[in-house]
Amino acid sequence: MYPNIKFIFLILFYNFTAGTSKDCYWNADCVYKYFSSKTPYNLVRGDIRDSKVNIEGCEPISIWAIIRHGKRSPGVDFARNMLEALVLRDYITTSHSQGKGSMCTQDVENLRDWELDNGLFERQHMLTAEGYQEIMGIGRRLKEAYKELLTDLEDESYSLRPAYGHWVEDGVEGFVKGVSNESLLVENSNSQYDIMAPYEACPMYMVGVKQNPATYKESKKYQRSPEFTALIDGIQKRTGIDYVLTNTNITSLYDLCRYTWSDKDYTGSPWCALFTKEDLSMIEYYSDLRHYYRNGHGTPMNERFGRIPMGDLYKTFVNAKVNKHRKLTTYFTHATMMDMLYSALGWYRDKFPLTALYRDPNRKWRSTMTAPFGGNLIAVLNRCLIDNKEDYKIVFYSNEKLVTSMCDNGVCSWQQFENQFRPFLNASIDFCFA
Ligand SMILES: *[C@@H]1O[C@H](CO)[C@@H](O)[C@H](O)[C@H]1NC(C)=O
Ligand SMILES: *[C@@H]1O[C@H](CO)[C@@H](O)[C@H](O)[C@H]1NC(C)=O
Ligand SMILES: *[C@@H]1O[C@H](CO)[C@@H](O)[C@H](O)[C@H]1NC(C)=O
Repeated sequence: MYPNIKFIFLILFYNFTAGTSKDCYWNADCVYKYFSSKTPYNLVRGDIRDSKVNIEGCEPISIWAIIRHGKRSPGVDFARNMLEALVLRDYITTSHSQGKGSMCTQDVENLRDWELDNGLFERQHMLTAEGYQEIMGIGRRLKEAYKELLTDLEDESYSLRPAYGHWVEDGVEGFVKGVSNESLLVENSNSQYDIMAPYEACPMYMVGVKQNPATYKESKKYQRSPEFTALIDGIQKRTGIDYVLTNTNITSLYDLCRYTWSDKDYTGSPWCALFTKEDLSMIEYYSDLRHYYRNGHGTPMNERFGRIPMGDLYKTFVNAKVNKHRKLTTYFTHATMMDMLYSALGWYRDKFPLTALYRDPNRKWRSTMTAPFGGNLIAVLNRCLIDNKEDYKIVFYSNEKLVTSMCDNGVCSWQQFENQFRPFLNASIDFCFA
């Protein structure tokens, strides 16, 4: 028995002395990758080439897609705050060298050696090179998956239109490059009104929801909750910063973490080492609350805007049945629209509303999934000849993953599709002016 006891003692002893050097970011087996609407697409996407459903006796005849823009640089205010927060890097390095805080030496070194990409702050709100690649990748994989349908696209057989906003518009070229070696015609965006951003023309939404402080009540409340204030305390202790961090500072550090994540080599940003996984999932929840009430199920008006592009999807497929020339319909849009259309479809809906009081780790609403960079919804219309009878099947993909919750494991009959989507035809923003 004695040797065993000694052995156990030894393990305890080592755990104790090695305690401060175990949980490092740089060598973690698995790091937290869900960053709400600033999640690089590669961290959450599937691959349409693998998830594409081939239905016996059917061939794809029309694709309808709506795609959020790729990674863009932060806007003016966020960029300024992030730049200001850069000084915290020196605080952290100095504190660590004085034996304060509990960060791993390698994590601190990686942060010290991290190189600032000035472009990220100078090209405010612009699509980044990574963002362009995200959108090009979607086009390229879509082309590979539906090669026959998407080869030699004649005029009139396709439509590509971005929502207003240069960071949205700039990505369309990437998509075109991915889909075809020939240049395709891209329609101009419309700053007044478009079906893939109808809320912008609705004062009832812009003033009543988006700019209304009440919309952010739960997220603000969550920032004052015991678990969130403990998070700030934890970051201060971990980093050894002798400086009271405000919520703005936390947001800046979080932005530094998620905006400088590289999705190319799948390595995290050294800025993320300031946070534990639990911290990151709490900040994600804060963002989820904002999205939920601003664009999602949390405010009844939101889904009414989501119905509008869904009506277009229905109309497009009705027309494609009779006129086989419309092979590809693609819209490029903003996170707001993605949240809204998933709301109209009733996806990601929780039984109880999301609140500051309870962060359900198994909640359905996840802004990381509804609106990552490059997030998308793709519907494919298939024409089938089954027992000599013509029939149609519609398959849905979200972020290039099959949406198995739709109809029969992701495959809808025409009737099922019609039942759910035909009512969307009547959707409009008339109610905004009633
Ligand atoms: C922390 O946030 C405050 C505002 O809340 C700001 O004035 C200050 O400059 C920030 N500090 C850093 C280091 O970013
Ligand atoms: C575009 O052209 C290049 C070289 O000519 C070829 O390798 C590539 O497969 C083409 N891509 C598409 C999408 O047709
Ligand atoms: C659209 O609205 C009209 C009149 O308001 C109604 O007659 C029609 O049935 C509606 N169509 C659908 C698909 O809901």
